[in-house]
Amino acid sequence: MSTHRFELNGREVTVEAEPDMPLLWVLRDLLELTGTKYGCGMGQCRACTVHVDGSAVAACLMPVSGAQGRAVTTIEGLRTDTLHPLQEAWVAEQVPQCGYCQSGQIMTAAALLATNPTPTDDDIDAAMSANLCRCGTYNRIRRAIHRAATGAS
Ligand code: FES
Ligand code: FES
Repeated sequence: MSTHRFELNGREVTVEAEPDMPLLWVLRDLLELTGTKYGCGMGQCRACTVHVDGSAVAACLMPVSGAQGRAVTTIEGLRTDTLHPLQEAWVAEQVPQCGYCQSGQIMTAAALLATNPTPTDDDIDAAMSANLCRCGTYNRIRRAIHRAATGAS
């Protein structure tokens, strides 16, 4: 067991955990932020996507020691005073079905728009290809990303 410090949704946090404990379990079980989902635990679904220093990362694959001193953002920290434009677009396009994959989808999309504010369909497909949705909401996800990118929400 050791002490780990990192920034989480804009606040410094300190946790006691084994260094190899996946960040996903630290977020969900120790810090009680359950918006980030467990799907496979093997980097194959991206339901667990968070941002680390602004990049989309599979939290099931990153040990908490890897987050030391870095800035982690979860779906709970994506909105500021208002919903993030992607969250508004997700509502407008009625994207979710069961919803399980959606926080990961939004976090990956947010990382995309941060570096590419006007992505093409191909850009979106490339960026989102690792995020699986068993309900097949892919077309609505793409529409919502375009909506957010154009500020049409
Ligand atoms: S739970 Fe992390 S990629 Fe599936
Ligand atoms: S909305 Fe059900 S898995 Fe994506």
